[in-house]
Amino acid sequence: MLLGDVMFPAIRVPKEEAERVRKKAEAIGAKDKGRLITVEGSYVIIPILEGFEDEFKEFELIEQDNPVFAREKSIHDILRDVIPPELSEYIPRAYKILGDIILVKIPDEISFYSKEIGEALLKIHPNCRSVWRDLGKEGALRKPNLEFLAGDAKVTETVKVENRCYFKFDVKKVMFSPGNQYEKMRIARMIQEGEIVVDMFAGIGYFSIPIAKHSKAKRVYAIEINPDSYYYLIENIKLNEVDNIIPILGDSRFVTPLKIADRVIMGHINCHEFIEVAINSLKNSGYIHYHEAVPLAVKDRPVKRLKEVAASLGKEIRILNFRKVKNYSPGVIHAVVDAYIY
Ligand SMILES: C[S@@+](CC[C@H](N)C(=O)[O-])C[C@H]1O[C@@H](n2cnc3c(N)ncnc32)[C@H](O)[C@@H]1O
Repeated sequence: MLLGDVMFPAIRVPKEEAERVRKKAEAIGAKDKGRLITVEGSYVIIPILEGFEDEFKEFELIEQDNPVFAREKSIHDILRDVIPPELSEYIPRAYKILGDIILVKIPDEISFYSKEIGEALLKIHPNCRSVWRDLGKEGALRKPNLEFLAGDAKVTETVKVENRCYFKFDVKKVMFSPGNQYEKMRIARMIQEGEIVVDMFAGIGYFSIPIAKHSKAKRVYAIEINPDSYYYLIENIKLNEVDNIIPILGDSRFVTPLKIADRVIMGHINCHEFIEVAINSLKNSGYIHYHEAVPLAVKDRPVKRLKEVAASLGKEIRILNFRKVKNYSPGVIHAVVDAYIY
C-alpha cells in the first residue's frame, strides 16, 4: 500500500451470484462497510477491503472511482446552506478521485461557489489532499487545464491504483481517464504469450503497464511524445517492477518501429493520420486497436478510415469489434475498433 493513496477496490459480480458472494464477503470480513453495494446493468458491485482481493479471484476486480459512501454526508447536504436552492441542480454529482487528489467539473452556473464545492469534497473524502476544478484537456498532448480549489495546492503528484497496476503522475501535467479501466484490461487479456506489442500513444503507461503486468507479452514498445508523461512512464515501469517495456520518447509518426508488431494500440482519440504507420508497424499480419472520438452521426467513420488506409497499402482487413469506451461529449462517443490486418 502506498502512503496517502486512496483505494476503493470492489468486485464485479453477475447478479445471479451476488447474494452468495455478498454473504461470503460479510462472513470473512471482506466487505467494506463504508461503501454501499451498487448495481451496474446485470452486475452487482461489491466493495471489498484491501487485502481480500485473492478471495474473489473468479470475479473482475475493479477500482471504484465514485463509490457511494454509506455514512458520509452527501455533497448536497454539506452545501445546502451555501448554494441557493435554485442552483442546487448544478452541484456536481460525479467527480474523479485519482489517488489522493480529486478532480471535479463545475458548471459555469455555480462557478462562484467552486471553493465551497472543493471544501465540501474534502470533508467527504478526508484522506484526499487537494481538490481541483477540471476545465478540460488541451491540444494533442491532452494536457489538463486545472484550477486549484481546496486542500494543499502543492499536492499535484499522486498514485492511482487500478487493476493492481500503479500509475504515478502529476495531475497538472498529465491526463488520466478512469473511464478507460475496462478497456485496458480487455486488451491485456487478449494478448497471447510471446506477442510483440506497440503502444503508439503510451502516456504514463495506461495500456503498456497493464499489458506488461497481466499478460505474457514478450515486449511492449511504449511511445510517448510529451516529456512529462514519458518521465512518469519510466517511473511507472519501476514502480510496477515490469521489465519488458521499451519506452521511446518521440513522435510516433517518426519513431514507431516497423514490421515488428503482432498488435498495435492506437490509444489517442484523434489519431487517424497515424493508421498507415500503425499498419506498417505490424509484421505481415496482426491486430490494431484504433481509438477515435466519433460523432454518432458518422458512427462508421473509424471503420471506413481503417479500411481505406488498409486498401491503399494493399492489405486485407477484418473488423472484429466496435465498442464504445465511454461517452465523450454530447452526441460524441469515444470508440475503439479492433481490426485484423493481413
Ligand atoms: C489521450 S492520451 C492516452 C490516453 C490513454 N490511452 C488512456 O486510456 O487513458 C494520449 C497520449 O498520446 C500522446 N501523444 C500525442 N501525440 C503523440 C505522438 N504524435 N506521438 C506519441 N505520443 C503522442 C499524448 O502526449 C498523450 O500522453
